[in-house]
Amino acid sequence: MVAFASLRRLSLPVVAILAISACRTPPPATTPVPAAPPAVVPAVSVREDSVRRPAVVFADGWRFAKNEPATFAEHGMVSSNAPLASSAGADIMKMGGNAVDAAVATGFALAVVWPEAGNIGGGGYMVIQMADGRREVVDYREVAPLAGSRDMYLKPDGTTDGSIIGWRSSGVPGAVAGLVAAQAKYGKLTRAQVMAPAIRMARDGFLVDSGLFTSVTRSRALIARFAGKEVFLPRDSVLAIGSTFRQPALARTLDAIARDGADVYYRGWIADSIAAEEKRGGGIITKADLAKYTARWREPLVWTYRDYTLVGMPPSSSGGVTMAETMNILEHEAHMPSFGSVAYLHLLGSAYQRAFIDRNSKLADPDFYPVPTAQLASKTYARGLFNAIDRTHATPTPAVTQQMVEGLHTTHYSVVDGDGSAVATTTTLNNSWGSGVYLASVGFMMNDQMDDFAVQPGKPNMFGLVQGEANKIEPGKRMLSAMSPTVVLDAQGRVQMVAGAAGGPRIISATSQVILNVIEFGMPLADAMRAPRMHNQALPDELRLETNGYPATTIDSLRAMGHSVAFLGGIANVNAIRRVPGGWHGVSEPRAFGAAIGY
Ligand code: DON
Repeated sequence: MVAFASLRRLSLPVVAILAISACRTPPPATTPVPAAPPAVVPAVSVREDSVRRPAVVFADGWRFAKNEPATFAEHGMVSSNAPLASSAGADIMKMGGNAVDAAVATGFALAVVWPEAGNIGGGGYMVIQMADGRREVVDYREVAPLAGSRDMYLKPDGTTDGSIIGWRSSGVPGAVAGLVAAQAKYGKLTRAQVMAPAIRMARDGFLVDSGLFTSVTRSRALIARFAGKEVFLPRDSVLAIGSTFRQPALARTLDAIARDGADVYYRGWIADSIAAEEKRGGGIITKADLAKYTARWREPLVWTYRDYTLVGMPPSSSGGVTMAETMNILEHEAHMPSFGSVAYLHLLGSAYQRAFIDRNSKLADPDFYPVPTAQLASKTYARGLFNAIDRTHATPTPAVTQQMVEGLHTTHYSVVDGDGSAVATTTTLNNSWGSGVYLASVGFMMNDQMDDFAVQPGKPNMFGLVQGEANKIEPGKRMLSAMSPTVVLDAQGRVQMVAGAAGGPRIISATSQVILNVIEFGMPLADAMRAPRMHNQALPDELRLETNGYPATTIDSLRAMGHSVAFLGGIANVNAIRRVPGGWHGVSEPRAFGAAIGY
């Protein structure tokens, strides 16, 4: 059985048309899976007591059904937010590329077909777990420009301005450095081969699908403020579904990178163009900033949860440490309460709350701040936190209330190949369509990642996160991230799952919950992705639940325990893969557009 077998033989534009029809129904959109996979059998490795548990039940009125199929593929799989990008990655593996080649192909393709978040004007993180045991992560997070300073966004009246929209909100982009470095070190094909699908789609065009149409429509006002208006809003209207969208400036930029490597972007004519546009627009990124940028190879953060080993992102992302701390707290519970129960939501929420309190004050770029990673990720530290959880009452986090803004975007993609190597990558412009700034001469959007710093330490940022001095702005420093690309290994060291998400701080909760749903509750991946999610980031001091995900009686009980319960229409955007007998299951976020495509 081959996933998307019929689609694979078609040209990319035809795939796009099918994706459009699959996505035309308004959200909740589902992964466009044309054919049922083989019967869902228990994963190769599931906790024994999870199999003995009563079956997980979704609440009445919850938006998703259980037992939906996943995409099945025997050899390799890509799960991403754009069908054309997943298809580009799968094609690269069919040509003989490995998971890293496919991830880099998917990343550059996302910069073309999913420009709200896929990017070469932003940054991200890639976790690489090779089948031969080698593992490494690339930190290609943006850095603050050399002209950046702690109070650069602070106005005399005590409010801040300029960290979210416009020229001054961008960090120095890292995406090109990261993708090129990963491919050069671990890939099997040439850079030109893996970039070819992206260049082709930028140059010859691709058919606009409902995902891109919806995204441009939602961010129309932001895009229209800058030069992207001419490109994404031709003749003042949103790119039409089914029309061919070409990006010649981006094609030229990608072609130069394919030929000359990252140097042309950081020191060559692309750097000249970026710096010139920044100067004209009032930005602060200079040629010196670009020339100084380097992607960093780091040791992954590795932790265990019961019989599993998780491989994730160390700082400058908070993703790995916060997931590890949360899961270490939970692991002390010998018999996990059942999924969706009051006891489970209380325990999980209390664990996130404690992990986020540490995240918000103690994590930052390790080049600038002594991050206590080992302590925060240790089992002993977690035991103390676990013991302090009152099992009948919520513990208040000192109060600051600020609603998170919904509908912001990043993009995560998960890749596995036929050898069992895996890549988890999350990349972002921060806000959907970043700063709004489109660099016309080089054809891409610039990030607004500066807002991930504690722009005003002690005050909430755009995600309502209250962060401290550790994460203040300093020239050349990476802003703290929540991105959590993660690979899960079983006791034999084989890749079991690949997961990660978009969604600001909710990335951490959604990624860990999809993993817990599989390895703690024995859910098939499709159910684990559809199960209702929850979030707690300590401040604001709220348990946030997906609307209609939990029965009224559960919510009443949580309130009676002292939890302030709030509701969100959706929590994060996960793209995941899981090993099953004979191959892989892939599921793209059921709450969004996207596709898992394999072969
Ligand atoms: O790095 C971070 O944590 C944020 N810039 C991520 C932003 C995000 O996920 C927005 N998307 N939904």
